[in-house]
Order: sequence, then C-alpha cells, then structure tokens
Amino acid sequence: MEKIIVCGGKPLRGSVRVQGAKNAALPILAACVLLSGVTTIENCPDLSDVRAACAILRRLGCTVERSGHTLTVDSRFVSCYTIPNELMREMRSSIVFLGSVLARTGKAVLCAPGGCAIGRRPIDLHLSALRALGAEIDEQNGVLCCRARQLCGAVISLPFPSVGATENALLAAVTARGNTLLCGAAREPEVDDLVLFLNRCGAAVRRTPRGDLFVRGTPWLHGCRHRVIPDRIAALTVMAAVGAAGGDVLLQDAPPAPLEAAIGVFRRAGCSVEPGEHTLRIAAAGRLRAVPCIRTLPHPGFPTDGQAAVMAMLCTAQGTTKIEETIFENRFHHVAALRQMGACIRLHGRTAEVEGVPFLRGAAVSACDLRAGASLVVAGLGARGVTVIRGVRHIDRGYEKIEACFKTLGAQIERSADSGPEQPKSE
Ligand code: EPZ
Repeated sequence: MEKIIVCGGKPLRGSVRVQGAKNAALPILAACVLLSGVTTIENCPDLSDVRAACAILRRLGCTVERSGHTLTVDSRFVSCYTIPNELMREMRSSIVFLGSVLARTGKAVLCAPGGCAIGRRPIDLHLSALRALGAEIDEQNGVLCCRARQLCGAVISLPFPSVGATENALLAAVTARGNTLLCGAAREPEVDDLVLFLNRCGAAVRRTPRGDLFVRGTPWLHGCRHRVIPDRIAALTVMAAVGAAGGDVLLQDAPPAPLEAAIGVFRRAGCSVEPGEHTLRIAAAGRLRAVPCIRTLPHPGFPTDGQAAVMAMLCTAQGTTKIEETIFENRFHHVAALRQMGACIRLHGRTAEVEGVPFLRGAAVSACDLRAGASLVVAGLGARGVTVIRGVRHIDRGYEKIEACFKTLGAQIERSADSGPEQPKSE
C-alpha cells in the first residue's frame, strides 16, 4: 500500500509530456487477439490496467514484451478462449476481449468485468451487438458462454453511443463475413484510434458522414506498428491542476482538438489556454470564476472522465458551478473527500452544486476510483497545507507515476509506503 503526500499552494511551471491514452491502448491490446502476426504498439503507458490486459493476452496464448513504452505482441498462436475470473475482474475493459476472442476462436468463456465503481455499468449493449452478428450467448451463474461458428455482418443500432459496446462490435465485425453498419457508434478519439489500428492491420473500417461505422469484413488481419494517441484525460488533469494551483504549463503531445469542450470550460473559468498543433499551454493566476453549468456528454461533449478533476479545480472558484453527470449514475464519489478538504458541494441526484470557497485545506483523504483519485491530487495541489491521499492503486490504473509528472512542474509531492488501513476494494 502506498500514499501520495502533497504540500499544496505552489504554482505549477514548466513543461511536461502527456502519456499515451489508457482508453486507446486497452482496446488495441484486445484487438491484437484478432491478428495473425506480430504487432508493435508504441506510446503504451505503463499502468496497472495495461498490465492486466497483457496478462489476459498471455493467458490466451500471445507473447507480450515491453521495452519502455513499446509493447510487442505476437498473437500468431492464440490457443485459448477462456479468461479467468481474476483477470476479468481487474478492469472494465476486459469485456472488450469478448468480441476479439469470439471472432478469433469461435468461442469465448468469461465472467462480467470489474472496473471503477461509478454506476451499474451493464453490458447489455455489448451482448446485443454480438448477438446481431450471430453470436450465441448463454449466461449461467455470472459466466458468459459465447459461440459463433461464423460471425456475419449486420446492421446494428446502438441506442446509446457506448464506447465499450462500439469497440466490442467493431472487433467482432472486422473479420466477420460481409458488411456491418454500426449506427449510433461512439465518436470518442480512442474509438477512432482503434479504427486506425485495425485498418493498419488490413481491416476496412470507415466513418460515414453521419458518424456511423461501416465495416467491410476481411478474412484475416496481420500485425502492424502503431503509436497510441496521447491521453486527453491525463492532459485535462494537468490543466485542472494548473487551474487549482495557478502557474503556467506547456503540455507536449496534447493535440487540442479532442479537448475542445474542456478548453471552453477552462477559458470560461478564467484560465488562459493557447492551443498549438500538438501542444497546449495553460496559465492561471488568482481566483478562478465559477462556470455556470457543465454537463458531461458523449464525445465531442465534455468528458465524464474529466468531471472530477474539473470539480476539484472549481471548488475554490468565485461563484457557484452546477455540474451535471449524464453518463454514469454514480460518479460523485470524490465529493465526500473534497468536502473533507473544506469544499462546499451540494448533491441533487446527478447534479452537483459547487459553491466556491476561498481555499481548500489539506486533509487525509482516500481515492475510491481512478478519476476521483486524480481529483484529490488536483485539490491537494491547490490546497493550503498537506494532503495525504490513500487508495493510490486506483490512481495507478490510469496515471503513470502521477507524482513524477507534477514534480517536474515544481510541485511538492511524494509517494511513500503506507502502513495505515486502506479503503476496501471498490470493484
Ligand atoms: C469507457 O467506458 C471508458 N473506459 C470510461 O473511462 C469512460 O468513462 C466511458 O467510456 C465513457 O466515456 C474505457 O475506455 C476503458 P460506456 P465504457 O459503455 O466503455 C451505459 C476511465 O476513468 N451502458 O460508454 O464502460 C453505462 O452504464 C474510465 O478511464 C449500458 O447501459 O463506457 C454508462 O452509463 C471509466 N449498457 C454509459 O452507458 C452497456 O452495455 C456509458 O458507458 C454499456 C454501457
């Protein structure tokens, strides 16, 4: 067990490179199961969720080697179609292996996935998309037994643009017989990175002018070399920290386009944001202004994964900010810890009303999920005094050495061993 200790109130200055995107790397690793070849994936962050995906690949018969931020996956000899419960429960994204394992082996046996406890997170959309492609799926005692002698292209209509269901359907469709039209597909940049990766491997997937995904089934896919896109949520987290603590930071490897909705929020709060081609410069001084209303939405709307960090930043803004969480029904776990630090937040169902206070003060708090944990780091960096954050393993799922990133920017932040009691597992 470890804890992060932040001595807040020091403006952040300098430049930092943004890590590769976890939520792009994970489905790309799942896609490797489809390939009869060797693949090199660059810019792959070293995170516990990525290590869990590698463990699943190895279990399925692939070899995976890491050298720095480059992973080499040899998936010529996939020999297994079962994923053990302990690997499935490590993270939510394990469910995306269902589509690729089924497509590669004709079978898949696995249980429901784990992941951050931020709502019910059902998998009905994943299963109905796979059924539309011809999969037979039985669920017995929490175990999914799936079969498909031959997956066949179909028209699939997603009632909600679920990221995971889009990725799962795509992975099952790329080697299916015939064409698939995936209507209402998610438009997140991480989905587009998966599409780019699959096309580099010989697949034929394109976005239609309406934003649907059209897939022409190809019988087999080969390996390729691919660089994972930068992590827009890691970038947003640093931006929120600059907003909270003040300072002037240049983010490298941070293309502004995927962050457009968030950039609008930072500017309305009083931060100066200068987009470059692949960089973002953010500066903040003095007290920020509240942003009347922020609604999380599917891309290109404001991302739910950035909601907690931006809330932490706005806890000390002048005025009241309303934050509506429309994606997950239970994504306000960070509120209790922010209140411990002096924040004034009222919750009404899926809306949080954040009334800015002049300052937060350091406290001993606990991360209960990934983005909640990141929000506590943001709050701690802006707070007066010392904040001790426990539950660091949640943060490590999605941020590579978060303390090192902020140290580079001049923050007083350390990670150390912790003998105190840790919070119970949220998965
Ligand atoms: C992905 O989760 C991301 N995870 C999440 O990031 C992110 O918050 C989310 O997309 C939304 O952007 C990865 O990419 C690994 P969804 P996913 O399916 O695919 C409901 C982080 O912090 N739904 O788009 O699980 C669901 O309950 C993580 O990095 C169904 O009802 O998200 C939720 O309310 C957390 N039935 C909404 O859709 C389904 O079958 C969005 O879920 C599937 C989803």
